[in-house]
Amino acid sequence: MNHLSRFAIPLIVTLLAPAVLAEVEQQPRAPGIETKGYVWNKPDEEKARALKHKADPLKGKAAYKGCQGCHKPDASGRPDDDYPQLAGQHASVLIKQMVDVRAGRRDNPKMHPFVGDWVVSAEDVADIAVYLNSLPTPTNNGKGDGKNLALGKKLYEKDCVGCHGDNGEGDEGKFYPMVTGQHYRYLLRESRQIRDGVRRNAYPKMVTVIKKYSDADLEAVSDYMSRLLPAKAAAK
Ligand code: HEC
Ligand code: HEC
Repeated sequence: MNHLSRFAIPLIVTLLAPAVLAEVEQQPRAPGIETKGYVWNKPDEEKARALKHKADPLKGKAAYKGCQGCHKPDASGRPDDDYPQLAGQHASVLIKQMVDVRAGRRDNPKMHPFVGDWVVSAEDVADIAVYLNSLPTPTNNGKGDGKNLALGKKLYEKDCVGCHGDNGEGDEGKFYPMVTGQHYRYLLRESRQIRDGVRRNAYPKMVTVIKKYSDADLEAVSDYMSRLLPAKAAAK
């Protein structure tokens, strides 16, 4: 190695490193619901790989360590902030949402540095999803003020129950999220974002329904949803 390259190589590496890091840390942006011709839940290579993987919950438990700081060790999230409860959620939903964040179809620059493909592989995504799905769903989640539950129930039963289910159980096969045990604050934030077109990976059929909702309607229906109980507990 001559003298020039001995100094030049470390110099070039030093100069390039911040640019490379910045590129890795920034969430990409892929077309979403704001784009003409948007198709919800379009198959993609990474999602197919994760869905096909024979997932191992023990590996998922280990990989979940990097997520606990925000979502908590029991995956119950944070009732007073925007961090959703993940415990017991359908694996299909968890996989789709993580893949959407990785691809940049769902904006989440805060979380992206922890779920990027240089941190977790498509197979890790599936392992984490199966692990999270196996956890019990706590029902001491954040609730609303309870003032408009009659309106919330009416709206839920008219417009939401068809997809999210009587007990908020969603549908694993159709990628419909379980909303049982979810925090009020998060439900309200997501339904506002879905109505306003800012959650860019949203389901257009649901947007049609929610578009006509006022803030008060969204508060009422989110409060009602936050109180749904798993089928077994509801029967007691
Ligand atoms: C820096 C904090 C942070 C870290 C670390 C983090 N997340 Fe998140 N996560 C969030 C926030 C905030 C949201 C909600 C974003 C929104 O409102 O759209 C979220 C949403 C999600 C969702 C969507 C849930 C739903 O119901 O749609 C999944 C799945 C998820 N995170 C999984 C993970 C996994 C797995 C990891 C670790 C590999 C992780 N997160 C690490 C902050 C974080
Ligand atoms: C036609 C089926 C359908 C109907 C009707 C529907 N939803 Fe949804 N909902 C979905 C799907 C699918 C998603 C996930 C979209 C995605 O892939 O990000 C979702 C996501 C959500 C989320 C975010 C959940 C999470 O974990 O991030 C909330 C909150 C929500 N719906 C509330 C409602 C409310 C309130 C109503 C009734 C006013 C409603 N939905 C009606 C299908 C539906």
